[in-house]
Amino acid sequence: MHMTISVAVSGASGYVGGEVLRVFSEHPDVEFGALTAHSSAGDLVGVHQPHLRSLADRTIVETSAETLAGHDVVVLALPHGASGEIAAQLPPETLVIDCGADHRLASAEAWAEYYGGEHAGTWPYGMPELITPGGHQRDNLPGSRRIAVPGCNVTAVTLALQPGVAAGVVDPTDIVAVLANGYSGAGKKLATHLLASEGLGAASPYGVGGVHRHIPEIVQNLTSAGGEDVTISFTPTLVPMARGILATVTAPLASGADAAQVRAAWEAAYENEPFVHLLPEGQWPTTAATLGANTCLVQVAVDQKAGRVVVISAIDNLVKGTAGAALQSMNLALGVEETTGLQTLGVAP
Ligand SMILES: NC(=O)c1ccc[n+]([C@@H]2O[C@H](COP(=O)([O-])OP(=O)(O)OC[C@H]3O[C@@H](n4cnc5c(N)ncnc54)[C@H](OP(=O)(O)O)[C@@H]3O)[C@@H](O)[C@H]2O)c1
Repeated sequence: MHMTISVAVSGASGYVGGEVLRVFSEHPDVEFGALTAHSSAGDLVGVHQPHLRSLADRTIVETSAETLAGHDVVVLALPHGASGEIAAQLPPETLVIDCGADHRLASAEAWAEYYGGEHAGTWPYGMPELITPGGHQRDNLPGSRRIAVPGCNVTAVTLALQPGVAAGVVDPTDIVAVLANGYSGAGKKLATHLLASEGLGAASPYGVGGVHRHIPEIVQNLTSAGGEDVTISFTPTLVPMARGILATVTAPLASGADAAQVRAAWEAAYENEPFVHLLPEGQWPTTAATLGANTCLVQVAVDQKAGRVVVISAIDNLVKGTAGAALQSMNLALGVEETTGLQTLGVAP
């Protein structure tokens, strides 16, 4: 049976909003309703998203409870702190999908420590592949009318390490993650350190020393996967590419575990996942192989001399890291086949 799902997108002038428009356009049942933003209200979509030709003549309108009313689904792609207020004004029967951080954390204390201000509350978490005590997070999404889409770095690190945590073959108390990040992860805002003259030709670490806002969300996820006393040193690095995250995540090999058990843990975790792929041994993920696709590519090795498990994951931060996860979660919430409209074919070279 064909049904129409009316979708409003708030933040339609931004990077995530643009990618939500691109990715959701592939869904056979989706029809876009209001496209809203803030300072760009009144502009045509084509001014801000010239790559989205089929939507170029649509006008962006102001974001309000009125403009977002009357849709089956509202996707919020707003700066953190902005979505809590608008979401609170939307009716409970509307499926609201927040791509920002406002509703991801279960702990109000963690919110206050890393983001500051009042905690907007906790929504069902939009990472279907997350290992939970009873199964997977996809089991919790059918029927949901509020979904918090994960952070992009969080997706890369969680999907990299969770099989080992769940299987008990890594020690989660000493995780180290170093990431190479494309610039779109920072959004469209103007900032000196995001200028081409600063970034081209440079690799620039940021959020160093345990202060990055994605840390508590990673801890939350790996705890969900079965980790106790999860501790992570997390360092992202801007590199000169527009999109993509390459995460290198290491943790001590658990005592008694061996390389065969490590491989088996990752194989078992992802053999049936449509969008998370453990590569054949010896083949390493690259960001280029994920561009435009809702895929996370993973490889795992054991560094015997260091006594550590080394996992590499790659995602497109705007697809598996945001808009693709949003669509995957929408499908589950609405009882549509999880993979509908989602692309595993990337753009290369
Ligand atoms: N970029 C990523 O890779 C990524 C990944 C995962 C999650 N996220 C999250 O997704 C959200 C959007 O990120 P982004 O990268 O798309 O940022 P962005 O490119 O800066 O876009 C921000 C959007 O929000 C709108 N906006 C700003 N203030 C607003 C307000 N007070 N009310 C209504 N609309 C407002 C802007 O509209 P105007 O342009 O009209 O002012 C713009 O459309 C953030 O919470 C971010 O943390 C981003």
